[in-house]
Amino acid sequence: MSDTTTIRWEQDQDGVVTLVLDDPTQSVNTMNEAFTADFEAVVARLAGLAADGGLRGVVVTSAKRTFFAGGDLRMLSAARPEDAAAVFEKSMRIKRALRTLETLGRPVVAAVNGSALGGGLELALACHHRIALDTPASRIGLPEVTLGLLPGGGGIVRTVRLFGITDALLKFLLEGRQYRPAQALEHGLVHELVDTPEELSARARAWIEANPAPVQPWDVKGYRIPGGTPSTPAFAANLPAFPANLRKQLAGAPYPAPRNVLAAAVESAQVDVDTAMVIEARYFTELACGQTGTNMIQALFFDLQAVNSGAGRPASVEKRTVRKVAVLGAGMMGAGIAHACAKAGIEVLLKDVTIEAAERGKAYSEGLLAKAVARGRSTGAQRDELLARITPTAEAADLAGCDAVIEAVFENPELKHKVFQEIEGVVAPDALLCSNTSTLPIGLLAEGVRRTADFIGLHFFSPVDRMRLVEIIRGPQTGDEALARAFDLVRQIGRTPIVVNDSRGFFTSRVIGQFVNEGVAMIGEGVEPASVEQAAAQAGYPAKVLSLLDELTLTLPRRIRDEYRRAVEEAGGEWTAHPADAVVDRMVDEFGRTGRSGGAGFYEYDENGVRGRLWPGLREHFTRAEVSVPFEDLKERMLFSEALDSVRCLEEGVLTSVADANVGSILGIGFPAWTGGVLQYINGYPGGPAGFAARARELAAAYGERFAPPALLERIAAEGRTFTD
Ligand code: NAI
Repeated sequence: MSDTTTIRWEQDQDGVVTLVLDDPTQSVNTMNEAFTADFEAVVARLAGLAADGGLRGVVVTSAKRTFFAGGDLRMLSAARPEDAAAVFEKSMRIKRALRTLETLGRPVVAAVNGSALGGGLELALACHHRIALDTPASRIGLPEVTLGLLPGGGGIVRTVRLFGITDALLKFLLEGRQYRPAQALEHGLVHELVDTPEELSARARAWIEANPAPVQPWDVKGYRIPGGTPSTPAFAANLPAFPANLRKQLAGAPYPAPRNVLAAAVESAQVDVDTAMVIEARYFTELACGQTGTNMIQALFFDLQAVNSGAGRPASVEKRTVRKVAVLGAGMMGAGIAHACAKAGIEVLLKDVTIEAAERGKAYSEGLLAKAVARGRSTGAQRDELLARITPTAEAADLAGCDAVIEAVFENPELKHKVFQEIEGVVAPDALLCSNTSTLPIGLLAEGVRRTADFIGLHFFSPVDRMRLVEIIRGPQTGDEALARAFDLVRQIGRTPIVVNDSRGFFTSRVIGQFVNEGVAMIGEGVEPASVEQAAAQAGYPAKVLSLLDELTLTLPRRIRDEYRRAVEEAGGEWTAHPADAVVDRMVDEFGRTGRSGGAGFYEYDENGVRGRLWPGLREHFTRAEVSVPFEDLKERMLFSEALDSVRCLEEGVLTSVADANVGSILGIGFPAWTGGVLQYINGYPGGPAGFAARARELAAAYGERFAPPALLERIAAEGRTFTD
């Protein structure tokens, strides 16, 4: 009947047409060129049928697991400023077709059979009625802003008209939140929830029967946007708070998407729907053709997908799932890891030196769950099931049968050796052996176990329940089997695994160390401390640099540095001091300021450990009024220090993939997301890697050889490539 390839036309005798989205070339449906053309054709055909009186109603659904995946990210990430006209026209084509669909004069129902994110929800919002199938994996929302974009298919125009400017911005647009079907129902994104596909189509049919000629609210004469618009005095009085809050949240970091979302929402609310669509398309085009969108799509979509789908996992090893895990050490990290495993359905034996300590670890889960229940994110039954999976113990014998071990005792190699000796003969004979060390070489720790090939590093981040990244560290002795099993375990507990090779500080700790050192070095040069903190915030770092070091404590990196220096010197090497070293030494030795846990650091703290102002002594002892470092240099030195060290990690084989570097830096150590991660930052720097290398040489001349471009960067720059090509 139809010559479209991505949309199936199914028409019954009563004149109800079901549009089944089913792109044969992909596992999901997206707004690619083929879909756009097909959708236009299908909508024109519906309009013809409606005009002839042969159309009773329309159901839009999909044959894929997801309803609709949204925009064509491959196309959007490749868009450059010179493509603006084409991007704008593409956005307008979709909008015009959706507009025709909602003004057919016949009922159109979205039968949302799976996730409807971004363009998928925009399609559903153009339908008069939305019914969602309640599946555990389904998510509904407009996450465009998290990829540096905005909804360009009428998502802003319609949410503003359905919910009002304030709610649309706060609930759906500015943070890009993804809701479970039940939450989507609660927020009014969908009208009904059903449990089976049969109910889904039956309810869609029933709604069509009951509503033969629905009209969208904004097409009813006299329609007003709920909550008012800038021309409503009460609303106008509060309006300035929006940009002010946004500025505060972004702290000057270069994220254009939230600003464009805000502007598009407010401006488009003041005009008719069709003009509003044009305004939205303009703001969308600006983002789609800009560098931040390219960066964020690369890292947070393509690289993330590559990482999660197992690019770093030995493919020959068969997939296994862990049923019972032993977590050694029920401190901050052990308790968090135990909770994450239990949440994923794994049975957990949580061992500490005393049963009281082990029980305290379990109490941490109880606390998290109490909050989740109070907020409606978990039920009492789910809480009880999860808690029943965690068994605290002080007895090694209780670990019999565990098929994986994750050690998180104090950071001490002798102690770690000892705890593995205690349990290695008790757990399953082929159990995977993991250490959550944050600094100790995996090769060194492996000396304490018998089955060295099964030993591997599994570096979680704190707080475990909120951090999505896990850094898997392959030691020189680790086998492929262990690497694959560690990878599968991380995926089993819903985390993102990057795989790195053993080295000092692995990838994450080593690279974040550069950022911290750079900030501290600026203090040593005499830069005003508040400027250093401000530079970190404006570069987009979630934690300011001096406050971060206060949290880590000044003594920890110092101890690691001293151990490293000893090792280098013992091996006959030459140690290069960092300009930060002297500042940290003075802070600790001369002023006794070791960080927040010590009650005093770069900041002052009250007796409850609450941070106060920057310590005035910094200005007195370090700051020199005559020093003036350009603010841009302060920001770039932080970003460059991490990016350059990541290139060295790649050069040295610590990192084995660019995707791991980008994803790991954003999700693990707070490298600003607008950059697309440590290596995408170099790709997307003005002038690409060559422009970046030239700027690095400038910084090296002004601030020290640590900014000199590594050979690998020079090579990539000379070849005119990027790290991702
Ligand atoms: P913590 O001090 O909170 O907990 C350590 C726990 O190990 C304590 O409960 C202690 O009683 C227990 N323990 C000591 N000896 C034991 C033994 N023989 N058997 C069983 N349990 C024993 O320390 P935290 O912060 O949880 O760190 C644990 C490990 O995780 C360390 O290796 C640390 O380097 C690493 N790590 C820490 C991160 C952090 O942000 N704190 C981040 C990533 C890794």
